[in-house]
Amino acid sequence: MEKQRAQWTGKVGFILAAAGSAVGLGNIWKFPGKAFEGGGGGFLLVYLLIVIFLGIPLMLTELAIGRASQSNVVDAFKNLKHKEYSWIGWVGVIGAFIITCYYAHVGGWVLRYVFSYLTEPAAVYSDPLGYFYNMLGYKAEGMTFFPLTAVLFAALFIALNAVVIIRGVESGIEKFNKIGMPALFLLLIVLLVRAVTLPGAQEGVRYLLSFDLSRLTFDTVIAALGQAFYSLSIGMAIMITYGSYLSREESIHKNTVLICTMDTLVAMLAGFIIISSVFATLGSGHIGKGGGFAFVSLAGVFEQMPGGQLFGVIFYLLLLFAALTSCISLIESIVAFLTEFFPWDRKRATIGVCVFMFLIGCLYTATQAAYPIKGIWFDMANGLTFPPFCDFMEYLTDRIMIPVCALGSCIFAGWVWKPENVIAEIEADNTPFRLEKTYSMLIRYIAPVAILIILIMSFATGTTLS
Ligand code: PFF
Repeated sequence: MEKQRAQWTGKVGFILAAAGSAVGLGNIWKFPGKAFEGGGGGFLLVYLLIVIFLGIPLMLTELAIGRASQSNVVDAFKNLKHKEYSWIGWVGVIGAFIITCYYAHVGGWVLRYVFSYLTEPAAVYSDPLGYFYNMLGYKAEGMTFFPLTAVLFAALFIALNAVVIIRGVESGIEKFNKIGMPALFLLLIVLLVRAVTLPGAQEGVRYLLSFDLSRLTFDTVIAALGQAFYSLSIGMAIMITYGSYLSREESIHKNTVLICTMDTLVAMLAGFIIISSVFATLGSGHIGKGGGFAFVSLAGVFEQMPGGQLFGVIFYLLLLFAALTSCISLIESIVAFLTEFFPWDRKRATIGVCVFMFLIGCLYTATQAAYPIKGIWFDMANGLTFPPFCDFMEYLTDRIMIPVCALGSCIFAGWVWKPENVIAEIEADNTPFRLEKTYSMLIRYIAPVAILIILIMSFATGTTLS
């Protein structure tokens, strides 16, 4: 018997859920560091152009494939009568699974830090790196101990995701995003006001608005491209799943523009918050972009900021909402696939994915804590290498799976299913889409070439691009 497919209850529910997927850790802790490295205004401009000319067409494509096929990412291609392209969906689901494994653990650390700032900010301030390592159960010389705190909080974070997903698309995911996304925007505004009113913050604002073209190299442009895809949740087939729950009465193109605008706005606001507060407290030399920055360096900022404890709690709460809504979309896309591909019910599929993901994620946390678990890698610049398992997971998704899945979607939409069909699906709600020619050109030529460049560059130079 055909199962009744879930649907968003309306426009707002869908927009908030899709924006919730897009707005995540990538916007808040990766983007500001990249904008700083890329020289401020020049990077922002390039990023904006990439979102407009590549991000929007790709999101339109994924949403249209999802809504036209009314199915999970793997069956989508079969339903559109091109079963031989199901590999795109497989790459998407497997990639989403790998991302979820580490994303959920990092989400757990964020949850820990909400409590850390609530209860023991002095302990964080007195030795930020030591505090972080201690949470991870860092394997110091001659000692081994299990990263208990990090793992326990990861389990709690994953359980939160599971509760929302088991409740389903409308009463779980949609409802959660309707609370989580406005809360996120509110927290963002509070932090923005705090950051830009710190004495000395203007320098950071000025930096972000200035153009230093010497810092805008080819590598930064490629990094902006990888960042844009990751940030918009493109290339993991997530938007295929979310599009499949969208009613034919809703406009795909208007919603896409809104989602991309929200995502970019949050990234830019996070850029202003982080860069101006680091400039005002620690100085511009302290801007960074990974977990080390978000968990360690920022402690110095909150320590020096008037009301730092409160703003620390607000910052990690913001990260927590961002991480939760993105992680939910990743898990949902895997669960949708499992419940439709196998005769599993939603609860069983969700619990199965969450447990498995938690266990693999433990390897990620353990390698962050210096346990010698290795992956295997090959690129032209370094030959065969054995990177730490945590880097290996990120290489797999950022350097291969996201670009391959995005490239597959461009080829499928541009050359196989054809732009006419994408456009017909976009116009199914009877709002005309006036940019057919531009869309066709972007999806057939410009986007695939840009993505191929990412793939080749990362293989040739071995650098992390996202
Ligand atoms: N877009 C999210 C972020 O910026 O953190 C992360 C993400 C979610 C990436 C979903 C990929 C994805 F499919």
